[in-house]
Amino acid sequence: TETQTFRIASIPADGVGAEVVAAGHSVLDALESASGGAYRFAWEEFPWGCGYYTKTGKMIADDGPEQLESFDAIYFGAVGWPTVPDHISLWGLRLRLCQGFDQWANVRPVNFLPGITSPLRKADSTDLDWVVVRENSEGEYAGFGGRNFAGRDGRGQIATQSAVFTEVGCDRIMRFAFELARTRAHKKVSSVTKSNAQQYGMVLWDEVFADVSRDYPDVETESVLVDAMSAKFVLRPEDLSVVVASNLNADILSDLGSALAGSLGLAASANLNPERRYPSMFEPVHGSAPDIAGQGICNPIGAIGSAALMLDHLGLHDEAKRVQRAIEATCAQGVLTRDVGGDASTETVTGAVIDNLAG
Ligand code: NAI
Ligand code: MG
Repeated sequence: TETQTFRIASIPADGVGAEVVAAGHSVLDALESASGGAYRFAWEEFPWGCGYYTKTGKMIADDGPEQLESFDAIYFGAVGWPTVPDHISLWGLRLRLCQGFDQWANVRPVNFLPGITSPLRKADSTDLDWVVVRENSEGEYAGFGGRNFAGRDGRGQIATQSAVFTEVGCDRIMRFAFELARTRAHKKVSSVTKSNAQQYGMVLWDEVFADVSRDYPDVETESVLVDAMSAKFVLRPEDLSVVVASNLNADILSDLGSALAGSLGLAASANLNPERRYPSMFEPVHGSAPDIAGQGICNPIGAIGSAALMLDHLGLHDEAKRVQRAIEATCAQGVLTRDVGGDASTETVTGAVIDNLAG
């Protein structure tokens, strides 16, 4: 039989990005070796990020997106370093790729892993899990706005930052959330809104949610204000299954979710172009963590979990499950990095995940 080849572009970028991308890469290497030639991953690494910016004045090569376009997937670390303003590094690389490749759905599962203590006192059950579906192409991160009177003395400057909500954008992310809910045991979609205060964009969001929900009578729904939802994450997490939210709201809620699951270092994410016209991008939720970078102690689980989401996207569903089970086994064995109460290195945790792939 023929070997199936998947072309993967890796962009480690900055800080712990390089450490966690190396971890995920070695897990996929191990899978490949064990596959008996059924499939292989052809990797190409790209040097973009803040170091590249210092040398060239650019976060990514001018033809970077064209270079990436033919890949089956992009495996991303994290971007950002104190030497470059965060809005330049984030917009120049991550948001440029997400928007350029129309990766409009950002899927961020929140799982309670065995062996990890949640700061939630009541979260002792292993069956608490939900997925944040983040609108990833517009909303508060559409990049609409401007600044005026920058040269003025005193306090004369003006800045506007508008949120953009389109019917098409709301409709597609909500349908995506409902389809995902149908694949889960708990068939429910919670929409996160703020239509009491944001009377244009969020009211359109609510109306589209009501419309779309009529096409999914088998799926339970609720609409919750974002402030109330942040409380609900803490107080009634067992009530949640799929949570659909705008770009900013979901960004905040998914960090909260991963902290509740035990650490930001555990959380995985997929930036999907569901039509598959462009490559999708897989990355941990966390940033470049300059405070612990270069020490070999960062948690690789979020990045390895993101590699599992990438396997699913590539159609390697059994392999994705194997990686997820190996993550759970590793945590259950107590092989943990410092952020989740252990003292294992990034390399030790990665090695344990690889050993557990066989089990
Ligand atoms: P951060 O996620 O890098 O760090 C927040 C806290 O979580 C830190 O205490 C850090 O040590 C810890 N942490 C993060 N990842 C960890 C891991 N794998 N293992 C153990 N602990 C971990 O967020 P922060 O500090 O707000 O931002 C740092 C830089 O990262 C900034 O330049 C920011 O713009 C960028 N950033 C990039 C993102 C991306 O590329 N997708 C996402 C978030 C932030
Ligand atoms: Mg974030």
